[in-house]
Amino acid sequence: MISGAAILAKHQPLPRRLAPGQGLVVRDVSVRFGAVQALSNISFNVPPGEIFGVAGPNGAGKSTLIGVCTGQVRPDRGIIELDGGALKGRPHAFCHAGVARMFQVPQIFSSMTVRENVETGLIFGNRDSSDTNGVDDLLEMTGLTSQASEAASSLDLLARKRVMLAAALATGPRVLFMDEPLGGLNEIEIDAFSSLIRKVRDEMALSIVLVEHKIRALAQLSQRIMILNFGETLRIDTPGLILSDPEIITLYLGKKHEY
Ligand SMILES: Nc1ncnc2c1ncn2[C@@H]1O[C@H](COP(=O)(O)OP(=O)(O)OP(=O)(O)O)[C@@H](O)[C@H]1O
Ligand SMILES: [Mg+2]
Repeated sequence: MISGAAILAKHQPLPRRLAPGQGLVVRDVSVRFGAVQALSNISFNVPPGEIFGVAGPNGAGKSTLIGVCTGQVRPDRGIIELDGGALKGRPHAFCHAGVARMFQVPQIFSSMTVRENVETGLIFGNRDSSDTNGVDDLLEMTGLTSQASEAASSLDLLARKRVMLAAALATGPRVLFMDEPLGGLNEIEIDAFSSLIRKVRDEMALSIVLVEHKIRALAQLSQRIMILNFGETLRIDTPGLILSDPEIITLYLGKKHEY
């Protein structure tokens, strides 16, 4: 006998954005590049609606962690799950499963308009490319409506970052990885982009993994922060406890980092 719930599930699939789930789960992930152990037994989870900060010295393994979780780097061991399903295969398979990333250096198509750049996200995410309402909503959410017809090449750095974020969101993610999104921005721009990150988290109920050297801004945005050092997890804790630990400040965040 087929239950009513099974019939409903068959005929009314939940839209991916509204699907309930436990978010991102990373279990025991290790990566080695030749002699370098870039990541050792890394485990953490990021439920929907949490901004999970990642910090640590240069070479600690932060970008490698993003690479593993977005399908660009194959782990030697470990599992990455999103809403209970294991993520496997090449980057486009991760993207279709609901994983998006924002690169440190804005990677957008300079010859296209702002709107066209955002529309490419629909295609990469295998979503309905005629979903113009969705694109309009994303342009508005990211503050790009008035620049929608401008060539991406004419934009300043903050606007380029907005475009990359909107294009990533157009793929329909459940989890978003951001690699130093505040790099190169001045204080006012950092506040503006931080507000946008919070807004995206609140309005789309995403799990967000935020790698950032600017530790003060990271502490203001994150519910928890993981400190990586030589590929190992030194600590996962609330921003208040991380920032009040002199060992972490002096030994592991280093002089190059901004407080
Ligand atoms: N493709 C690769 N091949 C070989 N070694 C690599 C590769 N990618 C990263 N590494 C090495 O792995 C370690 C971790 O690098 P990773 O880029 O993840 O650090 P990071 O924490 O992002 O550093 P940064 O703060 O400078 O961005 C470093 O020792 C780096 O040299
Ligand atoms: Mg890096």
